Amino acid sequence: MGISIPAMKKSVNFVPFHRPWLGAEEIREVLAVLRSGWLTTGARARELERAMAEYIGCQHAVTVSSGTAALHLAMAAIGVGPGDEVITTPITFASTANVIALQGAKPVFVDVEPETLNLDAQQIEPRISSRTKAILPVHLYGQPCDMETVLRLAQKYHLLVAEDAAHALGTEYRGRKVGNLGDLTCFSFYATKNITTGEGGMVTTDREDLAAKVRLLSIHGITADSWHRHGDGEFVHWDVIRPGYKYNLSDIQAALGIHQLKKIEAFWQRRKRWVEMYDAALQEVPEIRLIPAKGDVKHAHHLYPILLKTEDLTVGRDAVLKALKEAGVGVGVHFRALHLTSFYSKTFGFKPGDFPHAEYASERLLSLPLFPKMTGREVKRVITQLKDTLHRAKKKKTF
Ligand SMILES: Cc1ncc(COP(=O)(O)O)c(C=O)c1O
Repeated sequence: MGISIPAMKKSVNFVPFHRPWLGAEEIREVLAVLRSGWLTTGARARELERAMAEYIGCQHAVTVSSGTAALHLAMAAIGVGPGDEVITTPITFASTANVIALQGAKPVFVDVEPETLNLDAQQIEPRISSRTKAILPVHLYGQPCDMETVLRLAQKYHLLVAEDAAHALGTEYRGRKVGNLGDLTCFSFYATKNITTGEGGMVTTDREDLAAKVRLLSIHGITADSWHRHGDGEFVHWDVIRPGYKYNLSDIQAALGIHQLKKIEAFWQRRKRWVEMYDAALQEVPEIRLIPAKGDVKHAHHLYPILLKTEDLTVGRDAVLKALKEAGVGVGVHFRALHLTSFYSKTFGFKPGDFPHAEYASERLLSLPLFPKMTGREVKRVITQLKDTLHRAKKKKTF
């Protein structure tokens, strides 16, 4: 990068990208688990599953160790294997495509909608082949994909739909919560997500057969987890049905989730308030393109990404990112196009130009801090620093 942005005064009031919000309830519950003598998957994990199923309005919920584990189990439960293809988006976190590759299958990317950056469902049909097993849409930033088209195509071609809802706890699509739209939905409770257990995740579904497979594979593929072997009931021997993974969630983590889930609406209200402040302040900044929410959805507002019109700047996105960090604003990038990363380009032959909208966004995306514990003053600080940085990076008009 040849040109940099002139230095600004160092800030003493750093606004982090995220700060978790844990209350006395979470701390008390974790302490109760520590004192209970039962640390691994048990009563708290089951309680979180019941609460989640009720919140989503679905039949089954299975706690797991991460969103990645949820996605991996979804692929395994569906039976995705060598020779299969799964259709997904290149603008997502690594694990969305990694779990497909880990099963020996091929991720078939389709480009994203230029406005929302969600997978463009209109481009799915030409990519369906005799090897296609599933569609894996990602509800990016908390905005649902065009599920009507996804579900229609899945029905037409007998495909399964596993959703990456790592950003989408609380998201609604035409009045229905994400979590019971497709066959399996995968949530993340990672530290920065809309609710957190530190690390953790959940698979939700209405299908009993898939829920049973996910549960079995989450605990080695054995018939009885330790709650059933060493709980206060009768001792039972286990059998191995098929080799599985060690992807269960401990009760220490579930203790956090139980109370976090109760606060999801209050957290969302605060996220929404900060989003409205950002929208109002950044709408008219000519060097920024916002990513709008569609009319018929409830956006979970997990992230607040913007697109920098680098055509109008003297520098690229990474220089703006660096300058903002130096000015005391914790920013991120969600995401750089996955098809151009080393593994995917070398293994599957993806190349620049394959997905133009994804590549355009990949070079310009920047996520601003957005979390419930933020203060209005912090939001204003971010806005001021961003406007100031862009002002200094602006191309001078030559006429
Ligand atoms: C879109 C997306 N999918 C999946 C994941 C994986 O979730 P986890 O970190 O809980 O494994 C993430 C995490 O950041 C994500 O952003």
